[in-house]
Amino acid sequence: MSDKIIIFDTTLRDGEQSPGASMTRDEKLRIARQRERLKVDVIEAGFAASSNGDFEAVQAIANAIKDSTVCSLARANDRDIARSAEALKGANRARIHTFIATSPLHMEKKLRMTPDQVFEQAVQSVRFARNLCADIEFSAEDGSRSEIDFLCRVFEAVIREGATTINVPDTVGYAVPEQYGEFIRSLRERIPNSDKAIWSVHCHNDLGMAVANSLAGVKIGGARQIECAINGLGERAGNCSFEEVVMSLKTRRDFFGLDVGIDTQHIVAASRMVSQTTGFVIQPNKAVVGANAFAHASGIHQDGVLKARDTYEIMRAEDVGWSANKIVLGKLSGRNAFKQRLQELGVELQSEAEINAAFTRFKDLADRKSEIFDEDILALVSGEASGSSEETYGFVSLAQHSETGERPQARVVFTVAGHEVHGQSDGNGPVDASLKAIESHVKSGAEMVLYSVNAISGSTESQGEVTVRLQNAGRVVNGVGADPDIVVASAKAYLSALNKLQSKAERVAAQG
Ligand code: KIV
Ligand code: ZN
Repeated sequence: MSDKIIIFDTTLRDGEQSPGASMTRDEKLRIARQRERLKVDVIEAGFAASSNGDFEAVQAIANAIKDSTVCSLARANDRDIARSAEALKGANRARIHTFIATSPLHMEKKLRMTPDQVFEQAVQSVRFARNLCADIEFSAEDGSRSEIDFLCRVFEAVIREGATTINVPDTVGYAVPEQYGEFIRSLRERIPNSDKAIWSVHCHNDLGMAVANSLAGVKIGGARQIECAINGLGERAGNCSFEEVVMSLKTRRDFFGLDVGIDTQHIVAASRMVSQTTGFVIQPNKAVVGANAFAHASGIHQDGVLKARDTYEIMRAEDVGWSANKIVLGKLSGRNAFKQRLQELGVELQSEAEINAAFTRFKDLADRKSEIFDEDILALVSGEASGSSEETYGFVSLAQHSETGERPQARVVFTVAGHEVHGQSDGNGPVDASLKAIESHVKSGAEMVLYSVNAISGSTESQGEVTVRLQNAGRVVNGVGADPDIVVASAKAYLSALNKLQSKAERVAAQG
């Protein structure tokens, strides 16, 4: 058995299924490029048949990515599979990932199919897919709650039809490590042709055990592919966290004895990019990528780390890219230095016009803020790289007045499809007044379900990063905005969320 673990990154597919985490085609492309820099083996780019937008995103990623395999999810039917194959045409290395539920509960209540029908559909789908693509992954949805005899029958048959990877998802995060690992081991032992496929784990985090379950699937079960998402993004409580599982394998190589090809130095930048794009803030005590992950507050710990770092640190902050968290550019930095730093951060702006616009914003920020950190640069370009020129709403300027004992007033100038409009309102506070000023024109009727402010780089000199989550007609979207003035950041975040609500693309749910 190989000693190499295949890292299958599903940030752009399962991760995007988190409520509010939907991304535009350009945002996905940018994140996919980051994944390639991290040397991820397989990038699950999306679910091509779910919407035209997702089809285009998978297609764009397939055309742009050269080193990683690009994969599209497909339900086990000919239409989905053909759509995936079509979207993946331009890929250097393509994979179709087809799935069907196999647990008694899902088959009976969700699919309303008999086990024999599910068996037939799984076999037919893999046969069909194999004619379109050499690399086929088959997933048994709700695999960890499926009956082992039935799973053996299905897996043996789909391997015979040419499935090259067999995935055993713990779809609802129900498994516990030892049991899940043993389950995969039994499957591999009982299925006569199990050695013809690579075995894969895909664990959700409902009980907080996604990483532990994935590692048990590898250590006990002999799986050699781990499906994961950066920052643990994914349905409900999320997926196995990319950064945690990769650093576990690297840090405890003595125990696992397995290799991962990931270039870990880009982990922090990748985590920031996903957080800033989706509006999912990283909790400070999050392993590996949280702001406190390498911070030592207690005197005893600080003393220990100063004497010998390994007294309290099991990983080196630099190895996951924390050294990048320093002042990188300032007021006097030129366009070339800015462009080079963007490249180092994995941001590829497509045209000279985009670079020029981002550089103008950088100069503007440097005039207001003496120290510019990587996080500032990422926040600065996130709108640029998300195709903002095609968006309906754009921020222009804001004036607000607040004084103790007086009701705050705000005036916001913004564009609607390229035309400037002026909104004015009062409110409970300056943020409330500003968002009401926008809403007085837009009349979206959306309900705000989350508002959060975060200091991008720690101090009050920092840019404020605001996330606004809006809900309207069953859709949930997150908007993110950054600015040294948090009222302006709030208005930008609100407009960004409205833009996402505006793109009304209907999507088919992967597991619905
Ligand atoms: O959780 C799950 O079962 C999935 C499958 C589609 C692989 O995401
Ligand atoms: Zn999943």
